[in-house]
Amino acid sequence: MMEGAGLKEQQHQRLAASGQAHLLRYWDGLEEGERAELLADLDDCHFPESLCFFRRAAQQAPPEQQQQQYRVDESMEPVPKEVQGSVSRDRERLPGWQAEGLHQISQSKVAVLLLAGGQGTRLGVTFPKGMYNVGLLSQKTLFQIQAERILKLQQRASEQFGHKCTIPWYIMTSGRTMDSTKEFFVKNDYFRLQKENIIFFQQGMLPAMTFDGKAILEGKSKIAMAPDGNGGLYRALGNQKIVEDMEDRGIAYIHVYCVDNILVKVADPTFIGFCVEQQADCGAKVVEKTHPTEAVGVVCKVNGLYQVVEYSEITLATAQKRNADGHLMFNAGNICNHYFTLQFLKDVVTIHEPKLQHHVARKKIPYINDQGQQINPDKPNGIKMEKFVFDIFQFSKKFVIFEVLREDEFSPLKNADSQDGKDTPTTARHALMSLHHRWVLNAGGHFVDENGSRIAAIPSSATGMSEAVTAVVNDNMKELTDLPIKCEISPLVSYAGEGLGKHVAGHDFRAPLIIDENGVHELIKNGL
Ligand code: UD1
Repeated sequence: MMEGAGLKEQQHQRLAASGQAHLLRYWDGLEEGERAELLADLDDCHFPESLCFFRRAAQQAPPEQQQQQYRVDESMEPVPKEVQGSVSRDRERLPGWQAEGLHQISQSKVAVLLLAGGQGTRLGVTFPKGMYNVGLLSQKTLFQIQAERILKLQQRASEQFGHKCTIPWYIMTSGRTMDSTKEFFVKNDYFRLQKENIIFFQQGMLPAMTFDGKAILEGKSKIAMAPDGNGGLYRALGNQKIVEDMEDRGIAYIHVYCVDNILVKVADPTFIGFCVEQQADCGAKVVEKTHPTEAVGVVCKVNGLYQVVEYSEITLATAQKRNADGHLMFNAGNICNHYFTLQFLKDVVTIHEPKLQHHVARKKIPYINDQGQQINPDKPNGIKMEKFVFDIFQFSKKFVIFEVLREDEFSPLKNADSQDGKDTPTTARHALMSLHHRWVLNAGGHFVDENGSRIAAIPSSATGMSEAVTAVVNDNMKELTDLPIKCEISPLVSYAGEGLGKHVAGHDFRAPLIIDENGVHELIKNGL
């Protein structure tokens, strides 16, 4: 092994060639362990490749960003009606799509892929978001809820078609989240899924850069680095042979989704069946965007190609545009649930991935100054580069979108709790309990208050209502979300509200109520 001075000299030469020798500024004063830490970061930086990304990214970076936005805005068009499916407009077709999806699942042709490499910066946690417990009655984490939905769907498809099937679960983590994610799954015995059907893989990292292309020292032995965005998926799929693994298992269709949506319908048979029947190679689930400044990307066409324009990349003027009927013109809100055929993913990995551009975000990046002091800048001092998972929509030969109801399928966990907070643990918990409350009502159960009087029932908005009625229900839903009935149904009992009649029909319940594999539990009666 090379010792002290020789090692420094070798690194110095390599880094100087890329203009990064400043990263060794504190080398001489570092302990052995710190030097190892710095060397590991330097390995992950992949100079000069990341510099090449920087130069390409810099061409579209601020200060020209404003101009760039206007260029995108001018070329945006809404998604045409012909490529849209909808749970509310196509109600009579839902059973057929669901049957098709379940059939594909029963053939073990469907895999799910979880994007879990994010850092949860806004939520402010130091552990992976999937390990977050939003305070449900069961205290389940996001990972557990998703695992149990997979388990239930496997059971349903197996029972219906009379043979065993598997939905492999691919989980993308980053260098920062891999060990803790894996440990969590081991500790929880893989949530009763088979270990060999959960496949972890790791996305790449990129250094943050100053505006003139210098990597930033976050500490004396630590480089400021971040995962290369959820679009880092495609590189990782190739270089870690995940596509080959899918092929070996006979997978044909993949549902890709993000970790933070407590209502996510993992491997949703209806979405999959819709996409398969449309012979799409690429699809996206959307919800109607409710107000112009909502922090969701919009699925649209830009210069004739399908794309998501992120909330950070659209101008207010365009976000506010409305159709004659009053709906937002760009209202296909991206909920980060995507469908790909394996063939499409293979083409992306082998042909298209290198063409993907990094998106650039100006950030305040903490750094260590020449005097060795830690500085937290009050204005942006550098950029982070990320690829986005939806950047490959442009290569699709048959693209579709599938509109679902927000109250049934979308409640993301982005921020820590705060008063009037959006997308917080409280809103996620309430959304799940409200949905399960409605499942009980739809299955013929009722809730009563402490005097035994029935609490007013609220009809499901998925059972066919005019837009006007839906609006009223949505208003009620808001009330419900503010003060939810505490009700939680284990995914092991019901994936999407099915099969609850035998547990609840004709019964009056007092909340809090849990329905799980062991039965129906009114916690008050149980003295809990
Ligand atoms: C994302 C979507 C946005 C959508 C919103 C809905 C992207 C780029 N943007 O925004 O259009 O409206 O969700 O909730 O998809 N992740 C990685 N690796 C990374 C970065 C993120 O795996 O390097 C994962 C996260 O763990 C998460 C998902 O990607 O599961 C979404 O990332 P996040 O940063 O939360 O995206 P948003 O800005 O919320």
